[in-house]
Amino acid sequence: MSATEQNIYSQSLKVNRQQREKNNNQQSFTLWLTGLSAAGKSTIATEVDLWLFENGYRSYVLDGDNTRLGINRDLSFSDSDRKENIRRIAEVCRLFNDAGVIIVAAYVSPFEEDRTSAKMTIGENDFIEVFIDASIETCKARDKKGLYAKAEKGEIENFTGISSKYEVPASPDIHIITDNCSVEEAVQTIINRLKELDKL
Ligand code: ADX
Repeated sequence: MSATEQNIYSQSLKVNRQQREKNNNQQSFTLWLTGLSAAGKSTIATEVDLWLFENGYRSYVLDGDNTRLGINRDLSFSDSDRKENIRRIAEVCRLFNDAGVIIVAAYVSPFEEDRTSAKMTIGENDFIEVFIDASIETCKARDKKGLYAKAEKGEIENFTGISSKYEVPASPDIHIITDNCSVEEAVQTIINRLKELDKL
């Protein structure tokens, strides 16, 4: 059923995004980090957010583990629930960006189709895709949460990289290989690129 058929109409606001961005003295956008579990997404996302905070920007982190404990607690790791996970989060990113806030989103988001949908929801100019790339061997060696070990024993279904696929981004805006780079180097690369893109 369409929104009109359900008697839903868009409600306009009296303050627009440009005015909010001006008040916040920044442009808002979404930095979307994708990659395998244990590739370093959450660590890098929280450090980029800290850098932004300390440099006077208004930002916030949306992280897969955290949002799956709250707004998305009803979702599993089936392909269709991952799609719904990403759909909802992209909508939240869009709202935060409309509120003039920068979002750093850290989601495995393994499927190209779902990342493309997120980009369409958020807006092409506002979606910056960051591929946090680490070999599966590196991720398994890190495995702080012990999830790869469990997945290999068959104790976790649909585990990305083991029993569910990860589609490598074809042309990310930023590509960080974390096997041999420090968190500080990764953060600096991202900040430099955001400056080149005129986002900061
Ligand atoms: S996504 O694929 O739907 O984007 P999301 O980023 O929200 O995933 O959540 C991934 C986190 O959930 C991982 O960091 C990991 O700690 C945990 N997790 C639990 N089960 C799985 C699984 N089957 N596949 C991937 N990650 C899982």
